[in-house]
Amino acid sequence: MRILPIITLIAASFSYSSHAQAPAKNSGDQKDVEKGLKDYYKDYFPMGVAVSPRSLEGAEGELVKKHFTSITAENAMKMGPIHPEENRYFWDNADLIVKFAEDNKMKMRGHTLCWHNQVPKWIFVDDGGNPVTKEVLLKRLKDHITTVVTRYKGKIYAWDVVNEVIDDDATKGFRDSPWYRICGEEFISKAFEYAHEADPKALLFYNDYNTEKPSKRDNIYTMVKKLVDAKIPIHGVGLQGHWSIYNDPTEENLRESIQRFSSLGLQVQVTELDISVYRPEPKPRDRRADEEDTFTTEMEQKQIAQYKMIFNVLRDYKNKISNVTFWNVSERYSWLDNFPVRGRKNYPLLFDKDQQPKKAYWEVISFDPVPKHE
Ligand code: GLA
Repeated sequence: MRILPIITLIAASFSYSSHAQAPAKNSGDQKDVEKGLKDYYKDYFPMGVAVSPRSLEGAEGELVKKHFTSITAENAMKMGPIHPEENRYFWDNADLIVKFAEDNKMKMRGHTLCWHNQVPKWIFVDDGGNPVTKEVLLKRLKDHITTVVTRYKGKIYAWDVVNEVIDDDATKGFRDSPWYRICGEEFISKAFEYAHEADPKALLFYNDYNTEKPSKRDNIYTMVKKLVDAKIPIHGVGLQGHWSIYNDPTEENLRESIQRFSSLGLQVQVTELDISVYRPEPKPRDRRADEEDTFTTEMEQKQIAQYKMIFNVLRDYKNKISNVTFWNVSERYSWLDNFPVRGRKNYPLLFDKDQQPKKAYWEVISFDPVPKHE
């Protein structure tokens, strides 16, 4: 009578620990199904996701709560949506997302304080439509950053302060944006200073894509090193992680980026992860009639391999990586559905359009949890 419960207990704990060592792939085991990404990765880094007010509702919202411990507003905190006119802020969507994070005890990343896209038109021009001076533009930037960061002080633990100021063409250096044309590179350090003044405890990030391309990486490294050397308050580099199944990035380049940026004493976060099933294209265009947009077995295999490689590397650097955030929740909606090719669906995430885990998901959570220390 007494032996049976003990055996059951031993069997249960054995099956639990062997499960924890190497979760069975696609097992459908009750424990696998109940756990979320965040549970498998709790000894590594917080798992995050970009959200909109809509994706916090219903089944999508449940998926967010089950799998993630960190959220980023996909659009709601960008300068255009949140500050549409000089004397008018629109807070509703951002407030709602911050409240969701608070209610569910999630971390909240702020995105993004200074960018050349989704920026309101008024910011660069005076009443007559002429470009404003550097002095005026920096004052506007300061007012914007101070107002937004102060509103969420203590609620947002990390901000993407400056987004994408380095050109893809390495010979060009800085991106030719209105910010750069009017202010030169000074707006970058100023943005960090304004954010730090408004919330001295927030971690401040420079965020960009193609951070694994050696020539662009060099330019980003040089720019960020200059900030660090000048004691500008910057705490991390965000690798956006808009990658693709076509060997983008290579393992070597990903490792090199993490090592180089962290060698500056900075944290590294993957801020906008998705793995496109198409080749990267530089310019938007319409879908051609002969182009399919089904998720083929070949794409699936390549995507599984790429997700597996990327998470192997990220786990290796768990001491340097402080967050990994996916860009969108499930394939019900991804920003890549229409970009850069209008009318073409993409399949870049771990959850399909019915919010079910894809095979790549089971690969991402199937690993030997012995930590490596690099
Ligand atoms: C950049 C921005 C993001 C988002 C993506 C596309 O990576 O940082 O906010 O707009 O482009 O959705």
